[in-house]
Order: sequence, then structure tokens, then C-alpha cells
Amino acid sequence: MRLGALNSVGATVLVFWLTSAAPGADELKSVRLVPAQMEGGKPLMETLRQRRTAREFKPDHLPSQVLANLLWAAFGINRPQTGQRTAPSAMNSQEVDVYAALPEGLFLYDAKAHRLQPVSAEDLRPKAGGQEAFREAPVTLIYVADLPRLEKAKPESRPFYAGFDAGCICQNVYLYCASEGLATVVHDLDRGPLATAMKLRSDQQIIMAQAVGFPKTPDPASH
Ligand SMILES: Cc1cc2nc3c(=O)[nH]c(=O)nc-3n(C[C@H](O)[C@H](O)[C@H](O)COP(=O)(O)O)c2cc1C
Repeated sequence: MRLGALNSVGATVLVFWLTSAAPGADELKSVRLVPAQMEGGKPLMETLRQRRTAREFKPDHLPSQVLANLLWAAFGINRPQTGQRTAPSAMNSQEVDVYAALPEGLFLYDAKAHRLQPVSAEDLRPKAGGQEAFREAPVTLIYVADLPRLEKAKPESRPFYAGFDAGCICQNVYLYCASEGLATVVHDLDRGPLATAMKLRSDQQIIMAQAVGFPKTPDPASH
């Protein structure tokens, strides 16, 4: 079965090939993202003025360029010579993984390869929690800390660093959304069932989720 594109309005985007009606993660292919556009956007002060939480989404999929830009803005590599990222991390541990829950399944953002690596063919957006309205969003980012990567930190400090580092990524996403006129809300979730569905190890900790999509109604303040 061929699953169409990630964009309901034409500009075709990413195409996933599934080989059966009950797909598993091994039947989803790794997706090469288009290169992120690293220029443009609104000026910083205007973006900060427009940064806000929005809780109602159109179900329209994000165009491939927007999805690629979003993930790069979140925690992409902005200095290829050192592999450092768009958000800071304690001791450059880069311990937070960004997962993208899409209608087609769950993918891990591989920043180095700038690809989406398949994790599960299940649509995990409903399990990523939040209000009913958030489930309309075409993308839910899930921030997961791989705590052993914080090996240089004292064990008791690791959860604080991980939460802080994920918060920096979250703000990158807020700013990208403000710049592009997208809606976003960071929200809490039921970690246990989602961790099981994501097949996480016990030392991987879900921090928060963040839904992203087109706003249901245009924000008058964004002009
Ligand atoms: C750690 C954290 C958790 C949040 N959890 C939720 C949530 O579960 N549901 C929700 O609707 N908003 C949630 N929010 C969004 C806040 O409610 C929102 O940021 C706050 O009302 C201020 O609005 P603003 O972002 O537009 O400035 C959360 C924000 C943060 C930083």
C-alpha cells in the first residue's frame, strides 16, 4: 500500500511506502529531509513579539520544506565542522532526541544525516497526550532524554539538565513557529504508556511533547 504525501494541499512532500495493511516499523523507510533553509524568516525582535502558545490546529500536513526547517530549527546541526546544534546542551551532551509523531508513524530525527528514521508505524499522536484539540496537529514532537549521554554530569543533576536542554529546543520550535505563522503548544503527557509504545529503554526519559501545525484561525496579532 502506498501512503500518500504528508501534505494535503498539493505540494507533495514525503512519500512513504508500506507493504502491508498492518505495517510494522521495519516496513517504514528512512526519509531523507530536504535541506533546511537557514536564511530568512522574521527579524528576531518581531519573532519574539509574536511568540505564543496556540491550541487549535488545522489538520493539514506540513509541507516537506517546513517539516525539514522545523526539525533543523529545533535541534539541527548548525556547525557541521563540530557537529554542534541549534540549541545548547549541558556539556554539549546532546542528550535530547527529537521524535516526530506523524499520521504515518513515529520517526526519530537524525540530525547528522538530516533524516527521519522510522521507529513505529503506529500513529502515536493520540498517545502523546494533551487536549483533544492538539490531536488535530499534523506533527507532535516528543522530546526524549537519553540520560547516559549526560555521563559527565552528576547522576542527581541529569534530570535537571535534560529538562533544561529540552526547554531550549522547545523555545527554538516556538520561535520558528512564530516566524512562520505556525501554531504550537508544548504540553504534558502520560509518560508510561507512551514510553512503552515508543519502546524506550528505562534510562530514556520522555520530557515533554509539542504539537505543531497550521493555526485553525489566523492570529490577528501576527500581522
Ligand atoms: C513546561 C510546560 C508545560 C506546559 N504544559 C501545557 C499543557 O499540558 N497544556 C497546555 O495547554 N499548555 C501547556 N503549556 C503551555 C503554557 O500553558 C503556556 O506557555 C502559558 O499559558 C503561557 O502562554 P504563552 O506560551 O502563549 O506565553 C506548557 C508550558 C510549559 C513551559
